[in-house]
Amino acid sequence: MNTRIYKISLEKELDSQLEIPARILREGGLVAFPTETVYGLGANALNQDAVERIFWAKKRPATDPIIVHVSSKHMAVSLATKMPDSAWKLMDAHWPGPLTLIMQKNEKIPAVVTSHLPTIALRMPNHPIALQLIRQAGCPVAAPSANLFERPSPTLVAHILEDLDGRIDAIIDAGSTEIGIESTIVDVSGDVPMLLRPGGIPVDSIHSTIGMMEVHPSITHKHHGFQTISSGMEETHYAPDAQLILVRGQGERVKQRMRELSREATEKGLKVGILLLSNDIMVFPGAVVVRLGSKKKDIAQQLFQSFRKMNEHGVDIIITQETERSGLGLAINNRLMRAAKKIIETGT
Ligand code: TXA
Ligand code: MG
Repeated sequence: MNTRIYKISLEKELDSQLEIPARILREGGLVAFPTETVYGLGANALNQDAVERIFWAKKRPATDPIIVHVSSKHMAVSLATKMPDSAWKLMDAHWPGPLTLIMQKNEKIPAVVTSHLPTIALRMPNHPIALQLIRQAGCPVAAPSANLFERPSPTLVAHILEDLDGRIDAIIDAGSTEIGIESTIVDVSGDVPMLLRPGGIPVDSIHSTIGMMEVHPSITHKHHGFQTISSGMEETHYAPDAQLILVRGQGERVKQRMRELSREATEKGLKVGILLLSNDIMVFPGAVVVRLGSKKKDIAQQLFQSFRKMNEHGVDIIITQETERSGLGLAINNRLMRAAKKIIETGT
């Protein structure tokens, strides 16, 4: 299959530019498209064959359910059986935006989309191209991130091509995505809302919208021993080719441990990559150092791209650190934890 790329300009009228991609979607093809978080790989959510092709293209297990993207609250309401109060409050406050809500589903969406769960994940993305594409396709759009399963999510078209060239029909190119990490997922299908994945909307904003919310233990603990709702919540994910070692904690001890680890690995003849989430001036002899700065917005935007950069450098191990957990910090640390082969606690 030849993957076609449609470069879209936000300066020009979108309707005519999106005509072909929208038709491909409507007719059962796969189209990667930009959202405000990361690029998604879209299929007509009402078409079972099309959705099955997503699982094939991504090599994603059928047990990992897919988020359905809508262009209006009305479209979301038409796919759920029950809209709890908390869902309305969250939709009013944060849609369109990087917030996915899990609700009880009705019969309209085929079971393959939700991996036979009784619930459905719904999101209205805050990106003019994504919204117009869904409107023009005229159907809800099932879309996971547009990467091969377990690889870092794509924030640029080059990342999609690296993983999916020849496996999907089309890609809409609108440059790099703004937020860089995926949406926040909140399950509002039960009595008390539960955070399942921290993401583009900071947890504090969710709290101030609905008050009470539980936080799933898998968000901060890798081998947590609690049952997860879907397989996508637990495995090692987003992983670069090299083994990623995450040094947890704050301050001097972290820096010291990073230096030691780097020295030990270099002495063993390994090629070391250092991913710095700070502006500290630190020297790591012989290592490839990628600096993301200390601003969380910049770290989030660059994080997955930096994993792919380390792949290009061909490093054997990546040593990195956490950021402070407020705002986007919880989501950033969650992605690092899930990408990590090994976590080292240094205490504070
Ligand atoms: O920002 C985003 O959310 C991006 C863009 C493309 O919208 N999408 C995205 O999709 O990150 P994906 O498939 O990479 O991650 C969706 C996660 C998966 O871990 C899946 O397990 C979970 O959502 N999920 C989907 N439906 C669910 C459900 N009914 N219950 C619990 N978890 C669900
Ligand atoms: Mg994904």
